[in-house]
Amino acid sequence: MNQSNLSLPSGCILRKATSADQWSIRLLVFSAKLDPTQLNWQQFWVIECDENLIACGQLRNFSGAQELGSLVVASAWRGRSLGSLLTQHLINTATQPLYLECLGQRLVQFYSCFDFVPISFEDLPQFPKTIGLSTLKDKFRFSQLAKRLLKVPVVFMEYRGRTNS
Ligand SMILES: CC(C)(COP(=O)(O)OP(=O)(O)OC[C@H]1O[C@@H](n2cnc3c(N)ncnc32)[C@H](O)[C@@H]1OP(=O)(O)O)[C@@H](O)C(=O)NCCC(=O)NCCS
Repeated sequence: MNQSNLSLPSGCILRKATSADQWSIRLLVFSAKLDPTQLNWQQFWVIECDENLIACGQLRNFSGAQELGSLVVASAWRGRSLGSLLTQHLINTATQPLYLECLGQRLVQFYSCFDFVPISFEDLPQFPKTIGLSTLKDKFRFSQLAKRLLKVPVVFMEYRGRTNS
């Protein structure tokens, strides 16, 4: 699905994050109980409305791959397509094969609308190591462990649209 027909509510803008956004980003991510690591503001895109940061999402860089992560819409703004808009924007911005991990079937359905498909941990590709970057599989290994030992309903997904073809 291409969500390019979606539009922002009036007064809202989608832009790259700046260093001034880093605490607002942390607040959004912590409030949604998402992974609090690797929150480099340089990797984030944000939606701002009347000078308030109301949504964020990032592309984490790994060896040969990127992860769409930290997608949060402030609760008062949910259900108005901001999450879809940001997801589509991050997909369009990605330059490497794109992956994500999410919790539960509702999110799996949400991301399926954007041509992400579930992929098992074993089938995740092991991309060649790039100096200075860790591998996506190493990061997902922790979640895989939680899935196996604690039955956390983590699902890994691979983008099968333009970027990976
Ligand atoms: C998931 C999230 C970003 C969606 O943002 P949004 O702006 O409400 O999304 P949109 O309006 O574009 O689309 C609505 C769809 O989002 C999904 N969604 C909405 N709330 C959700 C929730 N609490 N959990 C999972 N999926 C949700 C549903 O698929 C929904 O469609 P539906 O109403 O037909 O069920 C938002 O609910 C959020 O910030 N959740 C908390 C953080 C989170 O779980 N992020 C994903 C990390 S992988």
